[in-house]
Amino acid sequence: MANKDQWGSRIGFILACIGSAVGLGNIWRFSYMTYENGGGAFLIPYFVALLTAGIPIMLLEFGVGHKFQASSVGVFAKLNKKWEALGWWPQLASFGLMSYYVVILAWALSYVGYAFTGGWGADPNAFFFGNYLQLSSGFWDLQGFSMPVLISFVLIWAINYIITVQGVSAGIEKACKVFMPLLFALSIVIVIRGITLPGAWEGINWYLEPNFSKIANAQVWVAAYGQIFFTLSVAFGVMIAYASYLPRKSDIVNNAFITCLANCGYSFFMGFGTFGILGYMAKTQGVAFQDVVSASIGLAFITFPKAIDLLPAANALFGVMFFVALVVAGLSSSISLVEAFVSGIVEKFDMPRKKAVNIVSAVGFLVGLLYTTKAGLFIFDTVDHYVSNYIIIIVGLYECIIIGWVYGAEKIRNYVNPLSDFAIGKWWDLCIKVITPVLLGVSFVQLVYTDIVNPYGGYPWSGIIALGWGAVAAVIIAGIVLASKPWKSDVLSRPVEEVQE
Ligand code: TRP
Repeated sequence: MANKDQWGSRIGFILACIGSAVGLGNIWRFSYMTYENGGGAFLIPYFVALLTAGIPIMLLEFGVGHKFQASSVGVFAKLNKKWEALGWWPQLASFGLMSYYVVILAWALSYVGYAFTGGWGADPNAFFFGNYLQLSSGFWDLQGFSMPVLISFVLIWAINYIITVQGVSAGIEKACKVFMPLLFALSIVIVIRGITLPGAWEGINWYLEPNFSKIANAQVWVAAYGQIFFTLSVAFGVMIAYASYLPRKSDIVNNAFITCLANCGYSFFMGFGTFGILGYMAKTQGVAFQDVVSASIGLAFITFPKAIDLLPAANALFGVMFFVALVVAGLSSSISLVEAFVSGIVEKFDMPRKKAVNIVSAVGFLVGLLYTTKAGLFIFDTVDHYVSNYIIIIVGLYECIIIGWVYGAEKIRNYVNPLSDFAIGKWWDLCIKVITPVLLGVSFVQLVYTDIVNPYGGYPWSGIIALGWGAVAAVIIAGIVLASKPWKSDVLSRPVEEVQE
């Protein structure tokens, strides 16, 4: 096999990992989750989840990716040829996530345009669902494309393709070196604007003040662990692939801490901006803080446009900055989603990288078209619920069990410690072998239970089975099929790197 592409520098690697982790999830999903789960009370489980599951799993993924110098496909196949499908599943999940993640990015791109002129008009809610998405009557009523969505979708895919086709260091690394500083600069301006608005501190107080009646609720903990997994982009094969592109002598432990803390610190910081703006909105409209926020997607595309209209000055400028930030944050994640799947294909089939990017992008584009139809929102919402909950939990669970118990957590720990700026102790084994799997197990039971009692989103069972369970089944079957194909490269016969001095 051709030599693997590598990162040009440590900072390039870190920025790419942060780029993958920081995404739409940090801006709207985090705010919405915090809002729903009791504000400050959510932050406690959130940081506990970061320390007991997020950082340990990131370390595990960096560690195995680096040690085996392979993507998740190569890692599981090297552990045991029979387990190869387990390595394809996270990569296929990345592909599934990518198919609709790009669509939300497309919405954000359109909104950059609308922000210039306040194009969402006087009623952002009616504009979003009616004029923009042109939402149909239900699941099976596709009714063709929504043109404004389709146009942005094509543009986002074009940008995404241009970056990923250049390769790891010349494409992804370079893009993230521009995107991340730009994102942080924009975010600082957004937060300063947010916290200096009248009424902002009421929102921020709500954000920081714990509502202890919620903290005893198991669901809040499940939500916090789910958010940590989602926001860190773990259990999708991305971080394993990214770590496999590190040169042999590279720090692992510190890089994992930096990535996780930067990602969650960013969410926490942006929360001041979002909650400040929501507080201002509540004040200017004379309504209670609890009543200003609409559902998850609505936060970015309905509540924010309303808030932008209410600003005292420079509305268009602020609006453009907010949506550009969303696009930039999302693009650095969507390129990593392409890369995850590409890494497995290149590795197994010894395919030239460019060809793999062409195939993954073309198929991703075609599948994504489904979400640009007028029933796209229903489809996206259902697939998202299943892909980003079930698959994360299942993959996270077997990663912990196979690496922690079967392969041996201490082997990974003994491998990463001598390489790293500082060492991890036995606490890490405990997190990987016990704490994280137990929490994931509990989450799984809870998730299955609620989904059986109430079909997700109140959608018809036909849609849930076809697209929700259908998407999960498609991932599982495709993984088994890919695993059954013969290997064209010599990755499996190459020795696994041992501890270095
Ligand atoms: N972390 C991303 C966000 O917060 C979402 C995400 C989850 C992701 N898994 C991923 C992104 C895998 C890239 C790769 O928006």
